[in-house]
Amino acid sequence: MISEAERIEALEAAQKLVDCLSEDSESARSESTRVQALQAANALTRSLERPEDGLIKFAYSPTIWMAIRTCVHMNVFNILVEKETTSAREVAEKAGADEIIIRRLLRVITSYGYAVEKGDGLYGINEWTKHMQNRLTQGMITYIFDHSMPAIAAAPEWFKENGFQNPTDPRNGPFQKAFGTNIPIFQWLALPENKERWDAANTFFEGDRGNRPSWVTWFPVQDELLSGKIDDQAPLLVDVAGGRGHDLLEFINQFPCVKGKYVLQDLQKVLDSATNLPAAVEKRAIDFFNESPVKGAKIYYMKFILHDYADPEALHILKNVISSMEKGYSYLVINDFILPDTGCPLIAAEWDLMMLTLMSAMERTESQWRSLFYAAGLSIKGLYQPPGDGQGIIVVAL
Ligand SMILES: C[S@@+](CC[C@H](N)C(=O)[O-])C[C@H]1O[C@@H](n2cnc3c(N)ncnc32)[C@H](O)[C@@H]1O
Repeated sequence: MISEAERIEALEAAQKLVDCLSEDSESARSESTRVQALQAANALTRSLERPEDGLIKFAYSPTIWMAIRTCVHMNVFNILVEKETTSAREVAEKAGADEIIIRRLLRVITSYGYAVEKGDGLYGINEWTKHMQNRLTQGMITYIFDHSMPAIAAAPEWFKENGFQNPTDPRNGPFQKAFGTNIPIFQWLALPENKERWDAANTFFEGDRGNRPSWVTWFPVQDELLSGKIDDQAPLLVDVAGGRGHDLLEFINQFPCVKGKYVLQDLQKVLDSATNLPAAVEKRAIDFFNESPVKGAKIYYMKFILHDYADPEALHILKNVISSMEKGYSYLVINDFILPDTGCPLIAAEWDLMMLTLMSAMERTESQWRSLFYAAGLSIKGLYQPPGDGQGIIVVAL
């Protein structure tokens, strides 16, 4: 039975969804509309779901995540995409697994819509299945499941032991409690015995914006950053801790006519695994807790770096970037979430807690960004929110 109140709430949410999608125009097909429509669809689901059932579904949802992680371990998604229809027995043989396990895991996966059930023990694929066999997706699944699940499970106890304080020490947080260490996560991942974990982490970083649009597609790069004089002897863009160079590549592909020198900075170990870069990109190993060797670039770009640290470490990193910047010429471009004070999109709020559990760090609101840059002696030229619910851009100068 649906009560009158539930019926009205559901109809209102459905109307919002229809309003979002009914106009056939470019703006109706935009990223912002997609995100609004998704929010309306979620509200519609919530209005029809009873709290008791919704909570049970939510409490049991880690089983879906476990099934996905195990299927990645067994290569199940790669096996499924080989053919239109695959039997549980074939999957079991190719995966070296027990057929009953394949059936039980795929029961959850198909009922969630990540593959298609075509009969008793017969499976087909859809767009989700294809996505699951992508190398970057599998890096994300492996890295996030293996590290965040233990850290999230340890978090309530960590809070209790630490007086329910906000973790800010990269050596002491839920991650350290879960893994029995006092080493910050990046240093821990870089230990020789964690080679596979480190590789999964870097593969995850290559694709960790999901499908949200890259800053180079929505931010007015030419007008805001490249309209003044450009010193062609100095680097145009330095990607500070840019991983394997994926963001640099996006920039170069978006602006093929912009000539300039590009520098990819990261730990030597990460640069060694960045093997597909064009000749215009120079690799320079750094430790961003020490002074940066590349001076006077037009743009220093940092994505997903400051959100990895609480303010003391973030200020330390900023000081080193500042010492490379030329007053009146260089810009620092931060590509991170800018959380609203109210009505935060769920993905950004979740990302914040991911930073909390893994890194004792945080996503920041506009006022938190402002006070961080003020403390670093930097002035904000502009804060820009992306279409949809992705990461914003903050342009700062000396
Ligand atoms: C969250 S990832 C972000 C990577 C890239 N900017 C992106 O958005 O995909 C953090 C990066 O910081 C690098 N990193 C961690 N500690 C570092 C250090 N002390 N010096 C330089 N880079 C470091 C990691 O290797 C990793 O590439």
